[in-house]
Amino acid sequence: MRTRVLSGMRPTGSMHLGHYLGALKNWVRLQAEHECFFFVADWHALTTHYDEREVIEQSVYDMVIDWLAAGLDPDKSTIFIQSRLPEHAELFTLLAMGTPLGWLERVPTYKDQIEKLKDRDLATYGFLGYPLLQAADILIYKATYVPVGEDQSSHVELTREVARRFNHLYGRGAGFEGQVAGALAKLSKDDQRYYERQRKAFGETGSHEAWAKGEALVRRNAAALGIGSGWSAAETELLLGHLKGSGRSVLVEPQALHTEVLRLPGLDGAKMSKSYGNAILMRDEADTVTKKVRGMATDPARVRRTDPGDPAKCPVWQFHVSYSDEPTKAWVQQGCKSAGIGCLECKQPVIDAIVAQQKPWRERAAALIAEPKKVHWIVEAGTERARLVARETMKDVREAMGLSYG
Ligand code: TRP
Ligand code: SF4
Repeated sequence: MRTRVLSGMRPTGSMHLGHYLGALKNWVRLQAEHECFFFVADWHALTTHYDEREVIEQSVYDMVIDWLAAGLDPDKSTIFIQSRLPEHAELFTLLAMGTPLGWLERVPTYKDQIEKLKDRDLATYGFLGYPLLQAADILIYKATYVPVGEDQSSHVELTREVARRFNHLYGRGAGFEGQVAGALAKLSKDDQRYYERQRKAFGETGSHEAWAKGEALVRRNAAALGIGSGWSAAETELLLGHLKGSGRSVLVEPQALHTEVLRLPGLDGAKMSKSYGNAILMRDEADTVTKKVRGMATDPARVRRTDPGDPAKCPVWQFHVSYSDEPTKAWVQQGCKSAGIGCLECKQPVIDAIVAQQKPWRERAAALIAEPKKVHWIVEAGTERARLVARETMKDVREAMGLSYG
């Protein structure tokens, strides 16, 4: 089975190059190797932009178009909209019951964002709970990997704790021991003894090797017996949970996936953000890009053309790092420090590279804008695909929590 990757993005305005280099480019790469789920986190956008529904409404489909234009392939990736799946809200509610308030209050982004976004009133229940909503988004798909920026590590860590707590509280319902015995009885006697040995070793020493050996054994048997015929996916979770001593793994602990990404500053050197007015949008026209880059801040020491500069102090250099080849970078270093080149000259290769990068995006976006039905259909199909998985998990969760009455 391929590993599952899940990530989401908030629809709070047009996508810019920072979004592309910081996340989207990586998503496009991941879809070649993993089963990928990517969604529009419109509820998340509401946690901070609850009084700006127009922005969200307008950005949802624009964002999907930018994703597709940049190379997300609906045949490889499942693309959907969070609010179309009320199952996320149901899991959020159920997880909320047992999640200590302190876990949410201690998430570093909580105080940070309240400080940073002073112009918004974020003393809301939704804003406090939003990392738990994110946990529900992730857990409902039993995602193995979650590509996120460093700033979101704490949310993935919270997700892991929430899953662990859930499995501890609800993973050993009535009959747990009997179910374990039933699943074990399907293994050969030798395998049963081997499993028991690894479980003991893991329990006593936390040995990584014992865990890996036990897990391999369970997975080998599951494959041999045939999931859906002699064996069920729940039995795999049962034995893996028992191996760990945590009860059945109803929910799966995900891992954050931090890929080395190059930070692209905005036109003024600050963080690129549409709301700071310093962004180059994915869909900017060539002449807009030209104008924006030509107007970019440079090393303040280069007042006159004859003043030497230092690329390390110039945001344009950060663009060269992402967009230029080695000879061009050497040319910038040398030319800047010796005042051999002017800043406009230095910026031209960046302009050319961005315009070239955007060309296929622009073409694909134009084709999609001309066919809005097609985009809706892609989202529709993705949403239904996601729903199958979300429903399956919720059935399991309700059962584990004792909510499957009669
Ligand atoms: N919180 C993320 C952000 O603000 C978006 C997001 C919501 C997300 N749910 C997610 C990312 C689940 C990864 C997984 O950027
Ligand atoms: Fe920046 Fe290039 Fe000008 Fe140097 S020459 S200050 S790197 S724009």
